[in-house]
Amino acid sequence: MDNRRPLIAGNWKMFKTCSEAVETAKHLVKLVSTSVDVDVMIAPPFTALAQVSDVVKGTCISLGAQNLYWEAQGAYTGEISPSMLISAGCRYVIIGHSERRQYFGETDESVNKKVKSSVNNTLIPVMCVGESEKERELNETFSVLDKQVKNGLEGFSHDDLKTLVIAYEPVWAIGTGKTATTDQAQEVHKFLRTTIETIFGNMLAKSMRILYGGSVKPNNIDELMSMPDVDGALVGGASLDPETFSKIVQFQSQT
Ligand code: PGA
Repeated sequence: MDNRRPLIAGNWKMFKTCSEAVETAKHLVKLVSTSVDVDVMIAPPFTALAQVSDVVKGTCISLGAQNLYWEAQGAYTGEISPSMLISAGCRYVIIGHSERRQYFGETDESVNKKVKSSVNNTLIPVMCVGESEKERELNETFSVLDKQVKNGLEGFSHDDLKTLVIAYEPVWAIGTGKTATTDQAQEVHKFLRTTIETIFGNMLAKSMRILYGGSVKPNNIDELMSMPDVDGALVGGASLDPETFSKIVQFQSQT
């Protein structure tokens, strides 16, 4: 894994009220306070960000948002700007999650604007890519991913993307209990790293963290993390329970 520091990220999606989120975060802080070798991020809903930020301040857990809008401010009802996220305590932002692409019309072009806006505002983007079940069956996995990466990162320089994290989330594995095999994950991660190398050079490719997402659980994280190009996980369902998520964060001690 070269020198890439693992990142275990929890995407809480549209779960948890403010008080539930605070309670979960407090419990998690107690459980993972010693996980010094791993970066940990949780992404609660927007409404709970500021309160959860107070809970995780000064701990090894960073805060992330699940989306942002690229403009600085303005008449964009219902949207949230990068500076709003920063003022709520966010360090990371998830961009282009397949649920946003599927239900909310996100495209590679909007993903591109959001990545640009997040790096310009010093938020760390976690850009999600992934193929659908049909695309995999049609042997289109690599062409779909190639397009998502190239379009999502069009117009950037190597320097712009120093902090970028890519999350590979095969759509057919999200919330379904079907995980890609470790070999499937490794094959795609390697492909993504090579794609980054071709466009942005070896240095960025070697330092960029590529997370796997899709039904990650305590019982499959060790094997996934043993793959040379898997640098962490983006965890949905299993991140909602602090005990379960902390076991994923502590994957190394289980090996
Ligand atoms: P899951 O979700 O872990 O529930 O499959 C992953 C994600 O959507 O980020």
